[in-house]
Amino acid sequence: MTRKALLTLQELNWRYEDAHGKALDNIHLELHEGEVVGVVGPSGAGKTTLLLALAGMIPANYAGDFSGSRQASGEVGVVFQDPETQFIGLTVEEEIAFALENAGYGDDEINRRIAEVLQLVGLEGFSKRSPFELSGGEKQRVAIASALAVSPQILLLDEPTSELDPKGAREVFSLLWQLKRERNMTIVVSSHATEELAQFCDRMLLISSGTLEYDQPTAEFFSRPDELAACGIYVPDMIQLYFWLQGEGMIEQGAGEVPLSVEDMLRLYQEMPRKMEVGQ
Ligand SMILES: Nc1ncnc2c1ncn2[C@@H]1O[C@H](COP(=O)(O)OP(=O)(O)OP(=O)(O)O)[C@@H](O)[C@H]1O
Ligand SMILES: [Mg+2]
Repeated sequence: MTRKALLTLQELNWRYEDAHGKALDNIHLELHEGEVVGVVGPSGAGKTTLLLALAGMIPANYAGDFSGSRQASGEVGVVFQDPETQFIGLTVEEEIAFALENAGYGDDEINRRIAEVLQLVGLEGFSKRSPFELSGGEKQRVAIASALAVSPQILLLDEPTSELDPKGAREVFSLLWQLKRERNMTIVVSSHATEELAQFCDRMLLISSGTLEYDQPTAEFFSRPDELAACGIYVPDMIQLYFWLQGEGMIEQGAGEVPLSVEDMLRLYQEMPRKMEVGQ
């Protein structure tokens, strides 16, 4: 059965006005319902630009040369790196209401939706607070609540945790896990937090100099750590350990999939030959 494509980019090229080269170079990409996709790439590679193109904000809100096509069914919600730059409301409820007013909802529906998304992101009781006075994690959860208020089919997040402390980053990823598990939300998230992405994403994209270098299921994506490291991508410790054990002959070549979490690694360890055990 072929899965329904929610969003498709085809032969998409983009050059920002006044820039020399293309920021996106012949991008083909299909997003399917319920998919969770991670985007990595070195600084300046085009991660933000790719998300802007997925959101339809390129070419709509930017000047430059565009070719190719973008087809999307339904709304797309976007969350950026620094939530504060997006805030326009004086209170959390005003902030979320703006998105809903722009989408043409009436007052009763706006109030209903504000209560619903605040509960979803775990910020009940925050409606009268100033978004500027919240912690980093809370701010980012307000930004996610605003994006979710209009019931998007897809949620795009551009480095949502890079400005946050570890606690804030945990809050955001745990909310994303909840959206994945409970709502089967289609999510695209760019991040340098590859440890998180390896566990969270079904599929990974590597963008380099505007080109989509890899687009693969997560375990396959992380199966060539040297190439990723050469692109400046941090290969999660668990995966480095796996390849080290392979190099030492302690795991057979090609034995099982690359472990993406501690649980995966423990499973592999239990299946290792007895010679692995200390003193034998
Ligand atoms: N508004 C703009 N005008 C002109 N060039 C831009 C603009 N925004 C980005 N660029 C250029 O486009 C390329 C891709 O930038 P982009 O911000 O998408 O990269 P990125 O992977 O998100 O980088 P980072 O990891 O630093 O966030 C870079 O060469 C950048 O300098
Ligand atoms: Mg960026």
